[in-house]
Amino acid sequence: MTTLTVRSVSKHFGGVFALRDVSLTCETGEIIGLIGPNGAGKTTLLNVISSAFPLDSGEVRLDERRIDSTSPRKCALAGIARTFQNIRLFNHLTVRQNIEVSFTTAQRHRARRLNGLTVASLLQELELEEVANRPAMTLPYGHQRRLEIARALALVPEFLLLDEPAAGMNEAESTELISSVRGIRDRAKCGIIVIDHDLRFILNLCQRINVLQMGELIAEGRPEEIQKDPKVVEAYIGLRHRTDHKAAST
Ligand SMILES: Nc1ncnc2c1ncn2[C@@H]1O[C@H](COP(=O)(O)OP(=O)(O)OP(=O)(O)O)[C@@H](O)[C@H]1O
Ligand SMILES: [Mg+2]
Repeated sequence: MTTLTVRSVSKHFGGVFALRDVSLTCETGEIIGLIGPNGAGKTTLLNVISSAFPLDSGEVRLDERRIDSTSPRKCALAGIARTFQNIRLFNHLTVRQNIEVSFTTAQRHRARRLNGLTVASLLQELELEEVANRPAMTLPYGHQRRLEIARALALVPEFLLLDEPAAGMNEAESTELISSVRGIRDRAKCGIIVIDHDLRFILNLCQRINVLQMGELIAEGRPEEIQKDPKVVEAYIGLRHRTDHKAAST
C-alpha cells in the first residue's frame, strides 16, 4: 500500500489564496472526493499534487518521498496521473495513438508495474474499442472524457486524479462512469481523487469527501457525514439550492 500525503499546502496567485494550509491523505485502493464552489481551489490542489505548479509552502509525499514542485513529467513517472478539467487530448491523433503515447512512456519507465496491461485492454476497459481509429477531436464529449482516463491509466499510476470526469455527461452516462471508476480502482489497485460538481456522482462514488471553500478545507468525512455537515450545506449545497431557485425563478 502507498499513501499520498498533502501536508499544510498553501498556494497563492497574486492576492488570491487559492489554497491555505490544506492537508489530506489518500491511500491506494481509496476513492476520495473533492467538492466545493467555483474558485474554491479544487483544480489548484490537483495542479499542486501533479507538480503543474510549485507550491508556496507545505509538502506532497508519496509515502516518504517528496514529489512537490518537481515537474509534471517527474510526477507522472513517480506514479501520479491525471485528467484535465478542460480536456487536453492530442486532437489529431487517433484514440489508440493517444493511449500509446502514455503507454510507451510506461513501458520505458514503469515496466515493472505493467502487469499484463496493454493498449487493447485499456480500450476495452473504457469502452473505446469501436472508436479506436478515430481522431480524438471527432469523438463525442463523454468519449473524450473516457479517453483522458484511459490515457492517464496507460501510465500505470498509483494515484489517479480526475478533474470533473462527469462534466457534460447525462445521468445514465455518469452512473455508468461510477462503475467504471470503481472497476479501475479494483483492477489497477490505485488511489483515486475525484473532483466533480455533480453531488450525486461524488456521494455515490467516494468513500471519503473533502470540502474546500475559498482555499480552505472546511470539512472531511464519509458521504453521509458530509451531507449533514451544516458548514457544507451552507457553503456548497445551500449555494446550489439558491442558484437553482434563482434559475427557476427567471
Ligand atoms: N493559473 C492561475 N493564475 C491565477 N489565478 C489562478 C490560477 N489558477 C487558479 N487561480 C485562482 O485560484 C482560485 C482557485 O481556482 P481553481 O481553479 O483551483 O478553483 P476550482 O475549485 O477548481 O473552481 P471550478 O469549480 O470553477 O473549477 C480562483 O480564484 C482562481 O481564479
Ligand atoms: Mg476546477
